[in-house]
Amino acid sequence: MIGIFDSGVGGMTVARAIEHLCPDLPLVYFGDIARTPYGSKSPDTIIRYSRFNTDFLLEQGAELIVVACNSASSAAADALRFHYSVPVLDVITPATIKAAELSGAGRIGIIGTRATVKSGIYPQRIREIRPDAKVFSQACPLLVPLVEEGWLNKRETKMILRGYLHPLRLKKIDTLVLGCTHYPLLKQLIGPRIGNQVRLIDSSVEMALHVQAYLDAHPELKERLRGKGGASRFYVSDCTEAVEQMAARIFGRPLELQTIAT
Ligand code: DGL
Repeated sequence: MIGIFDSGVGGMTVARAIEHLCPDLPLVYFGDIARTPYGSKSPDTIIRYSRFNTDFLLEQGAELIVVACNSASSAAADALRFHYSVPVLDVITPATIKAAELSGAGRIGIIGTRATVKSGIYPQRIREIRPDAKVFSQACPLLVPLVEEGWLNKRETKMILRGYLHPLRLKKIDTLVLGCTHYPLLKQLIGPRIGNQVRLIDSSVEMALHVQAYLDAHPELKERLRGKGGASRFYVSDCTEAVEQMAARIFGRPLELQTIAT
């Protein structure tokens, strides 16, 4: 199985994109609702939670780990690679490659949680690929709760977005990375507010393409995952009606969520 974890349901944007591209490969998803948000936690705590999540997915039969959460990818992906022998794919690598490739002027904006922005990982990775790039980051801590409340089209959300995006507009960026699992759900609002000429990079789509490319390059693993078959399974560490609704909104169908204790 392809094991995917996130701090909550937002990572289902990644799971959905992977399901779309690799429909014959079963997924096992874990959303750590009980301990979300990760974006305001310290790196040590995020690493501890990420190890728990990875252990759980391995117990469920995962042979490839996808860290769908940007905050966990920035704080914990290297620690996971050190501790486990299975391949660990983080959500940041594919988005940085795409941003470096797409940006004409090399002026790239990043939006994400505080943990992701504080880690500095996006600018660092982009400059490794494209040393001339100018990268401008903006933490947007209010966006996750707004999305989780389902305030996707409220006046208040638009106002807050305008405030967060204003400094990036002044920097005249030509590419913007949506560096958080929840932001793809705000894409329609972000586009016109940052400027329709700015290219948006949806890290969930890039992650799914990255998983597909990884499996194409490792046919023995792909065959093994396909051979085992079985239905995809979705686990959370806490479940509420709002969680079920958001999962159904992302997947476009109701999902059966199984709750496990953390
Ligand atoms: N999944 C997180 C991320 O992509 C957002 C929610 C949180 O802060 O836990 O950074």
